[in-house]
Amino acid sequence: MSAPKKLFVKTYGCQMNVYDSERMAEALGTKGYEETKDMAEADMILLNTCHIREKAAEKMYSDLGRLRPLREANPDLKIGVAGCVAQAEGQEIMRRQPMVDLVVGPQTYHRLPAMMDKVEAGQKALDTEFPEEDKFAHLPKAGKTRRAPAAFLTVQEGCDKFCAFCVVPYTRGAEVSRPADRLLHEARDLVERGVREITLLGQNVNAYHGEGSDGMEWGLARLIREMAGIDGLDRIRFTTSHPNDMEDDLIAAHGDCAKLMPYLHLPVQSGSDRILKAMNRKHTAADYLELIARIRAARPDLLLSGDFIVGFPGETDADFAATMDLVKTVGYGMAYSFKYSARPGTPAAERADVDEAVVNARLQELQALLTQQQRAAQDSMVGRVVNVLFEKAGRMAGQMTGKSEYLHAVHVDGPETLRGQIAQVEIIESNTNSLSGRLV
Ligand code: 5AD
Ligand code: SF4
Repeated sequence: MSAPKKLFVKTYGCQMNVYDSERMAEALGTKGYEETKDMAEADMILLNTCHIREKAAEKMYSDLGRLRPLREANPDLKIGVAGCVAQAEGQEIMRRQPMVDLVVGPQTYHRLPAMMDKVEAGQKALDTEFPEEDKFAHLPKAGKTRRAPAAFLTVQEGCDKFCAFCVVPYTRGAEVSRPADRLLHEARDLVERGVREITLLGQNVNAYHGEGSDGMEWGLARLIREMAGIDGLDRIRFTTSHPNDMEDDLIAAHGDCAKLMPYLHLPVQSGSDRILKAMNRKHTAADYLELIARIRAARPDLLLSGDFIVGFPGETDADFAATMDLVKTVGYGMAYSFKYSARPGTPAAERADVDEAVVNARLQELQALLTQQQRAAQDSMVGRVVNVLFEKAGRMAGQMTGKSEYLHAVHVDGPETLRGQIAQVEIIESNTNSLSGRLV
């Protein structure tokens, strides 16, 4: 037997890319590749890229440039680009960076083993199709190795919403839901391998409408309820959702499904009806606020998270003020905000940009408010007892860290044996991005 070849994977962007990177590493495992955390010893470097904003895509090119010395030191080193930049730019990547041996899109990575054969024979390999077959059905089985206590599971991919700023419908393709039986099977398998918390992933996860075990179409709420029946699975989360797909049974599940955690990422992007319309969001700010009220009625302690874009083409001071008002009304426990980034091929890319200095000032103002709200939500946890799923050792000796129901990172002094356990913790301190507590 020859020594295993080493694979180094770098993941950019969203949680689905994290999930895809794990699957790609498993697929390359069948070709004798073993993962390494040390890029310098790699035989194959795979960049799993993100195209959502210009910065994310440019980062990939600058990282690629930095691989040159490694390639010069080891001419046998193979370099691959996967993910959404691969999908969007395809051949162009090999033109800009001739070092690249392999380009694979998010819907074809089950073909990686065959592509690697070509690459190892000294050829280039490129596959950015949207194939007929389901990649998940063609991926190699994962084996029975232990997994970290919290895992992702992709249940739905792609998007049919076509928000005017967004590349996802082009890079990830049309909305597709995976059959429930497969997902339940995979969830049981994850639990057998030590997983206690599963985050169901999809670009538009609450639009899930997969084939159920009974042959009927199941929505996300039904899938969650069935998953909640799995012994040993203690926590379920899902991300990312669109307000227009937040149906009644899913709202109800937040109130009556004990395993569904009280955290919801529900992006609104803007608080201005004019901008929401220009974004093709198909809801108003009032619709969103009414929806939040209904979800909070079902689950009053829910921690709400969101995404905002500032400086969307045409955004005026009054539009931005409406966003600030909405944020004040909702009160987010956590939120992400981004400067609008024109993406080639999207409808908004044709429209005139807002002045950059204005956008910067707005982003600062919004981020200051969101940080203040996040801090207030954290501070309000002090003195409360939460349940923490411990995932790993903390940065300090003797410390363990995990996540509360509300997805707050929580550190305690405690033994290694806490890993994979859910324990009660009294919160004693709120730090910049985490909480400290003591075991009850
Ligand atoms: N520019 C800036 N932010 C964007 N997002 C998506 N597309 C763009 C873009 N073109 C943000 C949205 C989305 C999150 C994942 O990224 O807020 O919810
Ligand atoms: Fe980035 Fe979207 Fe692709 Fe995720 S799906 S990696 S967020 S472009």
